[in-house]
Amino acid sequence: MFTHLREDFPTLREENSPSYLDNACVTLKPDSVIESITDYYRMYPGCGGRSVHRYGTQVSKLVIEARQSIAKFINAKSVNEVVFTRNATHSLNQIAKGLSWNKGDVIITGDREHNSNLVPWLQLAEEQGIEHRIVKSNPDNTFNLDNFEELCDEVGDRLKLVSLSHIGNLDGVSVPVKKIAKITHQYDALMAVDGAQSTPHTRVDVQDLDIDFIAFSIHKMCGPSGMGGLWGRYDLLNSMRSIQSGGQTVETSNYDSVKWAAPPAKFEGGLGNYAGMIASGNAINYLSKLDMNAVHEHEIKLNKIITNKIKHLDPIKIIGPEDANQRGGICSILMGDLPAHDIAILLDEAANVMVRSGQHCVHSWFNARGHANGSLRASAYFYNTEEDANLFADTFIEAVEAFS
Ligand SMILES: Cc1ncc(COP(=O)(O)O)c(C=O)c1O
Repeated sequence: MFTHLREDFPTLREENSPSYLDNACVTLKPDSVIESITDYYRMYPGCGGRSVHRYGTQVSKLVIEARQSIAKFINAKSVNEVVFTRNATHSLNQIAKGLSWNKGDVIITGDREHNSNLVPWLQLAEEQGIEHRIVKSNPDNTFNLDNFEELCDEVGDRLKLVSLSHIGNLDGVSVPVKKIAKITHQYDALMAVDGAQSTPHTRVDVQDLDIDFIAFSIHKMCGPSGMGGLWGRYDLLNSMRSIQSGGQTVETSNYDSVKWAAPPAKFEGGLGNYAGMIASGNAINYLSKLDMNAVHEHEIKLNKIITNKIKHLDPIKIIGPEDANQRGGICSILMGDLPAHDIAILLDEAANVMVRSGQHCVHSWFNARGHANGSLRASAYFYNTEEDANLFADTFIEAVEAFS
């Protein structure tokens, strides 16, 4: 269904193009994104939002258009609710360090969080005395709504924020964000979503989910590296402290006071990565032409091919439910004592298959279960084919047998 789009990606047009299955880390880039970066440097290398000459005006216009594309893609109410950041980590840090906390406030996360949605909260616990509580997942890593409700009940009105990854990069398992947000709001707490693995792969509608913030990684959405986004409800952004104050973040300043600029400018201090912002708009325009439900289904189809071939293999074990319908495009495999990194290198060198090995920045999950070896993770995107899935599964089986 998406095969014709492979022509848009320089690395997939190569004669010996790789089976690139590391999309949960970073995706490949289409021509339109790459060209918009060089266009900026070649044709209008000025700064946005400041200078009124031709370069400046063109950059300002293209940055506004990019923000509009993102706002539409996630169904934000206003373009001013979209903040450009360096990555999802930066976005989550803006939430953690931008909101105000009191000692004893409670923040709830899950037990399968990427470090970017764990470490900022641990830091708040260390430095400001907030209490960090964790919802324990079911044994198959699916979300335990009962456990969540019990936890909310236990902490009551001390609950201030729930921050969960929509889809886990550990296992591809999603959490029922809409239900969780509804419960969270009953406690007058805020709901933040780490959307790094959901916005690239499924339809995400921030109004329908009724959440307060979402952090996302544009580099996982065919966009340039070093670009991410933060969406927040306008009233929250308006009252939240900026963690990067300076040029562009104020309407005016005096020797002893500032008048803050309105969001999003308030959060985008200093000269921006304009090439990155404009290219981000092009990446989102590219994704906007796709049916995101079909993207999700396609990834599941590839994951089923992989899962069916490898699930009985000894001594490996797929993390999360065996049913690929519940893991999107991610197949993350516990390797027992087998050397995950060596096998990943072998897959690349011998079969032209690129996957990720290690703990995928979810150290807490692996450490708590004594899986120091981490996992080997294949993660698909719309441009991957059944041949990619079969090649990975077949060579993975050979490698496991060779190392066993
Ligand atoms: C679930 C999840 N959250 C957060 C991040 C961090 O994203 P970024 O590298 O854009 O900061 C990642 C990256 O892999 C992720 O998968």
